[in-house]
Amino acid sequence: MSDFKKKIKHLREDFNRYKIDFKNLPEHPVSLFSKWMEQALEKNDEANAFVLSTVSDKNTPSSRVLLLRDFDTKGFTFFTNYKSIKANDIENNNNVALNFYWPKFQRQVRIIGLAEKILDLDSDKYFSSRPRESQIGAWVSQQSAIIPLDTAFANKMQNMANKFKGKKVERPLNWGGYKVMPKSVEFWQGRPSRLHDRVRYTLDKGSWKLDRLSP
Ligand SMILES: Cc1cc2nc3c(=O)[nH]c(=O)nc-3n(C[C@H](O)[C@H](O)[C@H](O)COP(=O)(O)O)c2cc1C
Repeated sequence: MSDFKKKIKHLREDFNRYKIDFKNLPEHPVSLFSKWMEQALEKNDEANAFVLSTVSDKNTPSSRVLLLRDFDTKGFTFFTNYKSIKANDIENNNNVALNFYWPKFQRQVRIIGLAEKILDLDSDKYFSSRPRESQIGAWVSQQSAIIPLDTAFANKMQNMANKFKGKKVERPLNWGGYKVMPKSVEFWQGRPSRLHDRVRYTLDKGSWKLDRLSP
């Protein structure tokens, strides 16, 4: 067996850095999410990166990494192309799953919820805060469309930049945000002997029910 394959088989992290204080859990999962995110941002690169899973109209699941741009007690916001594969999936079935993994804290957060498009005004606001190159890029890319192998984006970017020269770059209407309203949020904290701490918040008639799960 090659060395790196042996490494995969035997790579073992000892999870012993933190624990969940089951006696002092906040009522709302977003309070704990907020605390964990704040800590992760201090130590992890791209702590706002998460995996979004969707399901297609053919029942095929699909996952990809995105960046969280905002969150509050109502939900979790990200931005993307409204004609992308994920957007098509969401149009057909807006049940989605988000997964955050923060290795330096040996933590995972799993969220299940419903994705809804945010207001155009809010997408406009965020779009206008992005670097100009990213704004122009959003006009150039038809995200997830099949394109010729020899596609050169430099020319397309230049043409688009010329089009917007001296003008504000408006948000393309097929680019904007989604907010995921959580139904369930699970916090996972790695612990020794694989006896990890898990706590799951589930929305039950408007209030959050709390369960500890076996590792
Ligand atoms: C670190 C990282 C961050 C990303 N952030 C975003 C993002 O915020 N929005 C987005 O549309 N794609 C983002 N992507 C690209 C997506 O993973 C994906 O390739 C793209 O959205 C197309 O997905 P789809 O074809 O399933 O719709 C990111 C990728 C990585 C690796």
